[in-house]
Amino acid sequence: MIDPRLERALGTVVDPEIRRPLVELDMIPAASLDDGTARIRLELTVAACPAADRIQADVRQAAASVAGVERVEIEVGVMSPATRQALVERLRGSRPQQFGPETLTRIIAVASGKGGVGKSTVTANLAVALAARGLAVGVIDADVHGYSIPALLGSADRPTRVGDMMMPPEAHGVRLVSIGMFVEGNRSVSWRGPMLHRTLAQFLSDVWWGDLDVLLIDMPPGTGDVAISLGQLLPHAEVLVVTTPQRAAAEVAERAGEVARQTGQRVLGVVENMAGLAQPDGSILELFGAGGGDEAARRLGVPVLARVPLSVALREGGDAGAPVVAAEPTDPAAAAIIALAEALRGTRPIAGRGLPLSPA
Ligand SMILES: Nc1ncnc2c1ncn2[C@@H]1O[C@H](COP(=O)(O)OP(=O)(O)OP(=O)(O)O)[C@@H](O)[C@H]1O
Ligand SMILES: [Mg+2]
Repeated sequence: MIDPRLERALGTVVDPEIRRPLVELDMIPAASLDDGTARIRLELTVAACPAADRIQADVRQAAASVAGVERVEIEVGVMSPATRQALVERLRGSRPQQFGPETLTRIIAVASGKGGVGKSTVTANLAVALAARGLAVGVIDADVHGYSIPALLGSADRPTRVGDMMMPPEAHGVRLVSIGMFVEGNRSVSWRGPMLHRTLAQFLSDVWWGDLDVLLIDMPPGTGDVAISLGQLLPHAEVLVVTTPQRAAAEVAERAGEVARQTGQRVLGVVENMAGLAQPDGSILELFGAGGGDEAARRLGVPVLARVPLSVALREGGDAGAPVVAAEPTDPAAAAIIALAEALRGTRPIAGRGLPLSPA
């Protein structure tokens, strides 16, 4: 029972991971108010809840804000397995067909033919730029062999398990999961197709993403098992193809786009990365040549959506886990990715495949 005088204030406290009011999650089974003392029973979902301190502080503050409350006493415990199971069931029930064909979330896979063209860098920065524009954004690092999204977003956090669900950590306003969160240290993962498929399926079904506007998927390079699995799991996803300006890269980029198409995914357009670098004298250094983006776009019959120049700030931001779109938004590479975020926000996914990202 929650004392009616405390009800409203406590109702405002939200679990930072599940993003629902604690009261709704049965995490505050009892709260009383006697002689100026609020006594609150707080039940965490799991004993080692990383957000425990924050939740307690929020509860304390909310209770203390109520007129007539002079002291707040919080008794912290852990949910019984039965209560937790009921909660998990409820959470599952409230996310009908997460990312199924009827999803309202726009799903965009970032793919490439060749490795090292900047997929992960573009994905991480695009995610942060979209989140900074008020969208609820999730990122799946599907590059199970070369996972890099957590480092690019400066996150060493792991998901919290609640029953058989996982609450993704958040960095720079972006919810993320990566296979890197499930292996010890910096070990490499050598899994075969079926294991990869199962892991990706789990990222889609067992992670509590909440209501996302956009889910970005950082793909491994090429057209291997993961690309095929993703195509099967998310045939309604859209695909951004990243390539360098190098002409020879265009052909392999085309192949990545074609594999996506064969599974029914729609290629949105090409992102040309590592484009010319402006020199102090005003000239442009075309380290990787020119024309690769246009060539890939021509072959795929889609537009070039962004040209991201070579940028020291972009690379340094990635190394430091401080995405350049947030740390240095005027950098030309940051500006190009921010413009891409704006453009994606303004376009409507094809009919029946989701809602417009911005209010029409
Ligand atoms: N526009 C750019 N300017 C300078 N450096 C860049 C740029 N884009 C990416 N890089 C750097 O190039 C390297 C490869 O980038 P990234 O890891 O994002 O590529 P990737 O396509 O995801 O690679 P992989 O195929 O291995 O997953 C990184 O060190 C990154 O910092
Ligand atoms: Mg990568």
